Amino acid sequence: MRLTFLRNREKRPDKLTIAPLRVDVHSHLLPALDEGSKNIEESVSMIAALRNLGFQKLILTPHIMAGFYPNSPHKIKQHLLVLREHLEDQHIDVEIEAAAEYYLDAFFLKELLSKNELLTFNSEDDKKYLLFETQHLHEPKQLFETIKRIIRRGYIPVLAHPERYNYLQRDRLLVHQLYETGILFQVNINSFSGYYGNESRELAEYLSVAQMISFLGTDCHKEEHIEMLQKTMDSPMYQTVLRAGEILNNRI
Ligand SMILES: [Fe+2]
Repeated sequence: MRLTFLRNREKRPDKLTIAPLRVDVHSHLLPALDEGSKNIEESVSMIAALRNLGFQKLILTPHIMAGFYPNSPHKIKQHLLVLREHLEDQHIDVEIEAAAEYYLDAFFLKELLSKNELLTFNSEDDKKYLLFETQHLHEPKQLFETIKRIIRRGYIPVLAHPERYNYLQRDRLLVHQLYETGILFQVNINSFSGYYGNESRELAEYLSVAQMISFLGTDCHKEEHIEMLQKTMDSPMYQTVLRAGEILNNRI
């Protein structure tokens, strides 16, 4: 048994795990703020599991979506403090910060024109990255206007899981036009193993080959996502993306 284990390791001596990423930039692990973690216990258990996989820092990004998830920066920060206390009590050695996943809607467009605080995750050299998502089926009319407004506020726009949007899956030209605006792409790790379907996997692969992926995220809502991560780490595409050296996660 032991010999078999050693032989298998010899075949793949340099397989990369989650550890080189160091930081996850997208997850729904603040309890009861969206359709992710339901309570503190679930949050603590999933965060401990992600720590065991190799993450040292997690950016928790609850949805902000008018009418569905009306989360404010104040409310998100309050929840973050409570969760931190629980993690400390249980001696789970992981850093957690909060940002948000803004949904492109009229509320977000208005917020971008206001002086209201917006939640971002920041690099060591103080670049501020703003994570946002869009509807899945059709290109939102205000997509390019939104990107302009984010940049005008001094933030770097980061599109959450571009590989999952149907309107990008069928239009590579639009993918490139978007990229040329200065937007960065955050791909979900589990897309590499086809968890979100073949179309998502294919676009993730395309973005990987084109070296257009800046961030990887777990987009973790539930335990199933963590179990999938363990399988996805072995996928050739995940290994290729990590080796390409373009990923910025470990600078956050
Ligand atoms: Fe998400």
